[in-house]
Amino acid sequence: MTGGLGFIGSNFIRLVLAERTDIRSINLDAMTYAGNPANLSDVENDSRYRFFKGDICDARAVDDALSEPVEAIVNFAAESHVDRSILDPEAFLRTDILGTHVLLEAMRRKNVARFLQVSTDEVYGHVPEGHSKEGDPLAPRSPYAASKAGGDLQVLAYGATYDAPVLITRGSNTYGPYQYPEKLIPLFVTNLMEDKAVPLYGDGLQVRDWLHVEDHARGILTVLERGNEMNVYNLGGGNPRTNLELTESLLAHCGRSFATHVRHVTDRAGHDRRYAIDCAKARALGWEPRRDFTAGLRDTVGWYRENEQWWRPLKSGAFAEYYKTQYAGR
Ligand code: TYD
Repeated sequence: MTGGLGFIGSNFIRLVLAERTDIRSINLDAMTYAGNPANLSDVENDSRYRFFKGDICDARAVDDALSEPVEAIVNFAAESHVDRSILDPEAFLRTDILGTHVLLEAMRRKNVARFLQVSTDEVYGHVPEGHSKEGDPLAPRSPYAASKAGGDLQVLAYGATYDAPVLITRGSNTYGPYQYPEKLIPLFVTNLMEDKAVPLYGDGLQVRDWLHVEDHARGILTVLERGNEMNVYNLGGGNPRTNLELTESLLAHCGRSFATHVRHVTDRAGHDRRYAIDCAKARALGWEPRRDFTAGLRDTVGWYRENEQWWRPLKSGAFAEYYKTQYAGR
């Protein structure tokens, strides 16, 4: 797999190593700001795990990682933060589109039997009502979502043109341990632990559907093993919450009040109000989310509380600069 030092990738590798003795993992990761070796420090000496440092846009690095035959490529590598894509779209086009293309070419060269692209519900764009199905038109509205949609279209085009064995998963907003603290849940939780205010965009009535990362990882594994080629599978948590509701829960978990610890800031440009997906196709494969949201959120807050040594270093240095650029003067 690629991008295995990131949030979803590292949780996927940990799950597979713990539960599936028949699967070996080769991880190609560029170690960008969000690709953190600490995410897998507990398994790095496992004999069923092998790490290669390299960028998916670099065909030679990809070939090195594929020097042993593999049964499948699972592409977790991506630039994934919407707010960063608004500040600097180019890195997103490079990794999410060009990088995907390089991997698809490698799959063809090496005759890899399965290719799974890890994508996002954001490719459907804003969904005012109802639930997006896999066949719905793509209508991405942020540079990030457009870059992921571009990757998805490349994947499906390789399936159609070269009869390549491709699959796509589109996950909803994911939460859990090891998420880089730029995303809503880990940013808010760690800010509150640092006794800082949390920046709530606009009116806070945007709706996201929250999926625990363990359920997301299990969904990807299910689709990898049981999905039909050339198919897309939505993976949603079934836990729609407004940002305001979620913020209230996080404040309660951290013992802080709305009046003292919420800062209303200017809304994100082009902010999608609502995402919602229909997951009947993935459910028909036998997958369903297991984690209850209330307990999952409580455990996640607990994890950040117990793992300060993991997130504190991430919030200094380059992140502090990013935070200033992103939030100052809003
Ligand atoms: P995020 O975690 O960035 O995921 P995405 O944009 O991919 O859905 O944001 C989740 C929601 O939280 C989204 O509606 C934007 C909002 N948000 C804030 O209100 N403040 C913040 O500082 C961040 C990072 C997000």
